[in-house]
Amino acid sequence: MSEFGQAVRHFWTLDWSATHLNHGSYGATPKPVLAAQDQARQDMERAIGDFFSRQLPKRMRAAAAELADYLGAERDDVVFVDNATAGAQSVIGSIELQPGDEILINDQTYNAVKNIARHEAARAGARVVEVMFPFPVADDGTSIVDALTAGLSERTRLVILDHITSATAVVMPIERLIAASHATGALVLVDGAHAPGQVALDLTALGADFYTGNCHKWLAAPKGAAFLWARREHQPWLHPPVISHGLGRGFVAEFDWTGTHDPSGYLAVPAALAFRQTFGDSRIKSRNRALAETAGAYLAQAWTTRLGGPASLAGSMRMIELPLASGAAPDVRLKLWQDHRIDVPVNALAGGLWVRISAQLYNEMDDYRRLAAAVPSL
Ligand SMILES: Cc1ncc(COP(=O)(O)O)c(C=O)c1O
Repeated sequence: MSEFGQAVRHFWTLDWSATHLNHGSYGATPKPVLAAQDQARQDMERAIGDFFSRQLPKRMRAAAAELADYLGAERDDVVFVDNATAGAQSVIGSIELQPGDEILINDQTYNAVKNIARHEAARAGARVVEVMFPFPVADDGTSIVDALTAGLSERTRLVILDHITSATAVVMPIERLIAASHATGALVLVDGAHAPGQVALDLTALGADFYTGNCHKWLAAPKGAAFLWARREHQPWLHPPVISHGLGRGFVAEFDWTGTHDPSGYLAVPAALAFRQTFGDSRIKSRNRALAETAGAYLAQAWTTRLGGPASLAGSMRMIELPLASGAAPDVRLKLWQDHRIDVPVNALAGGLWVRISAQLYNEMDDYRRLAAAVPSL
């Protein structure tokens, strides 16, 4: 028997009568990490005043320091936010856009973040420019870099780049995209909602201006645990979506307190990192990537359809075209769940319907075989 798949399912509280192929959307938190979160909550409720006024500031910084080490970042350059959406709002909302400025997004930018860009641009009389990225991707990512470059101008103030796209599961040629954007003098926000835990990160070396990422998706942390990293020179003018006591007292002070809320998810991030270390962090990444690759190739062959791109632009998720001539994506997704108890996202793209499969430690080939067998009945 494999050491993963069935063998590790006892770590999760997921209902194993269903098939879970959608780790990417919300993650799934293992029991030891939930236990650490529960312990943090007990500490909070046992001595509320001491916890919030004395323990929490130190414990937040200690948790952020472990996360920063994992991300290849300086410790005080990383702050917690509740989710990647909040990280993106912090950055886009903090930039003093001028009339005529442009924010460059693409058709695959996460929709919530597109909305933030549109909202903030409209308030300032700035413009959102949207370029089309190719899908399926037929090369090593050069066509993506070319598509981005075509949308850059001397008016581009901010470029928003998803490190791994949500709708198309492409690991973007991020270094090349950042370099192209910086060549025009634009600021770069990387939305890495899916990246931590799927791909290796070295934020200092990556050289973006801002990077936000979720710990609750692939890193195994509880829901509501995410981070924002920013280059030192930008930190003084960055603000969280909620302004509180720390205003004007620096990046860490502003973000570490945004009003009373349950910080147990943040405090459980070290437990999530420790959980991953019991298997080996890079071993998890390469195992999941290999499984997504094998499963993707298997499904494309079973359905005689296409993959969303080359293996060189893939992580622990894969897009496979469905062999369905027509139909609405939400209906297909609902049928897979209601009739087959398979949770997998379905997107309408490039004139067809596509599934996005995820591969986490608890998955194994039988999960994808069930999906392969269920689809012809649709
Ligand atoms: C690229 C991207 N950005 C942002 C988000 C939003 O994440 P959250 O809901 O945790 O804010 C997602 C979620 O899937 C995503 O894929």
